[in-house]
Amino acid sequence: TTNYQICLLPGDGIGPEIIAEGVKVLDAVGEKYGVGFTYDEALIGGCAIDATGTALPAETIQAAKASDAVLLAAVGGPKWDTTDPEKPRPEQGLLGIRKELGLYCNLRPVQIFDVLAGASTLRPEVVAGVDLMIVRELTGGLYFGKRERVFDKDGAGVGGAAGQYAYDTLEYSEFEIERIARQAFEIARKRRSKVTSVDKANVLETSRMWREVVHRIHDADYADVELEDLLVDNTAMQLINRPADFDVVVTENMFGDILSDEAAQITGSLGMLASASLGDGVALYEPSHGSAPDIAGRGIANPIAQILSVEMMLRYSLNMPEAADDVRRAVTDVLDAGFRTGDIKDADTPEDKVVGTEAMGTLVAERI
Ligand code: NAD
Ligand code: IPM
Ligand code: MN
Repeated sequence: TTNYQICLLPGDGIGPEIIAEGVKVLDAVGEKYGVGFTYDEALIGGCAIDATGTALPAETIQAAKASDAVLLAAVGGPKWDTTDPEKPRPEQGLLGIRKELGLYCNLRPVQIFDVLAGASTLRPEVVAGVDLMIVRELTGGLYFGKRERVFDKDGAGVGGAAGQYAYDTLEYSEFEIERIARQAFEIARKRRSKVTSVDKANVLETSRMWREVVHRIHDADYADVELEDLLVDNTAMQLINRPADFDVVVTENMFGDILSDEAAQITGSLGMLASASLGDGVALYEPSHGSAPDIAGRGIANPIAQILSVEMMLRYSLNMPEAADDVRRAVTDVLDAGFRTGDIKDADTPEDKVVGTEAMGTLVAERI
């Protein structure tokens, strides 16, 4: 029988609670399809700092590279919040593993489950039919550019003024834009054949190059795909004005981070937004949200973003599209049956349909 090695990175906060439900669903898939899943759990983020002093221990990188796919939950929390550049931060673990595995392409599918239209803070007629894919560049840009903090009190900063001085650099090389643009066009061809490229070309040099490269790739190899450019500030507004118009949205690392949280809320909750981070080797799957310290340890977090990340893993890494469809159908069935976690309930949800993390996972797994 086929056996897959899955590297599990639970991380911090609600991480361990939600990843358990992802595993529960994956095990149900394994049973149905006669496929074995072996799990190798490793440390990342705050828990890794506590145990080893670093957010991304070498063993974790090894475990990830030795696996068929990586399932991550979330990292971070107030315990490790610091503004001291000398101290390790949990987020460095996440950025580090993305870089180590070369995961330059982050897919965040924003899809409305019809039955949840009322859970959105937008009017149901605005969110009806929303089905867009954010293609976020993940290993370049502002997150990985040259940065520095200068404590020099004698005036290292702008204008030679006294006080601290700090900078982050937004850098891109042409090939980084080229490969993410190709991914976006390829994905669009399998969808509604429309790409919105988001930049700030009216101000930023990297954006001007971004726009030029995206158009060159388009004109040469993807002229059949519709391409529009949209400035990032306008995009933030259009996303809540006419979300159903968007198909594929391709953008720079930090723009994609911000726009994806905004887009998640269209579907009712950040707890619904899955993601896949792809490169040329082992891929990583994780919810788009964080460790939700405000609700951690209470068993009430929504595990659906994690479970839909398992769906993406089945689709993109394990070549099990039918099983992926099963996961999506199971989630849809559970929602259609009226079950809700706290973040997606509304005024009409009866109390006995409000369930916790574990119960939600079990309801989905039972329907595989
Ligand atoms: P967050 O995404 O953790 O939480 C934002 C809000 O959404 C909170 O109110 C939270 O309760 C809610 N929420 C998030 N996921 C939910 C779920 N599954 N079910 C129900 N509600 C959910 O963002 P934050 O509070 O700004 O950040 C907390 C920590 O997480 C920070 O340390 C941050 O760096 C980290 N973070 C990690 C990741 C990651 O690991 N991929 C992503 C984003 C933030
Ligand atoms: C995300 C998160 C991360 C990011 C943080 C925790 C480094 O917000 O995955 O969206 O900004 O990429
Ligand atoms: Mn984010």
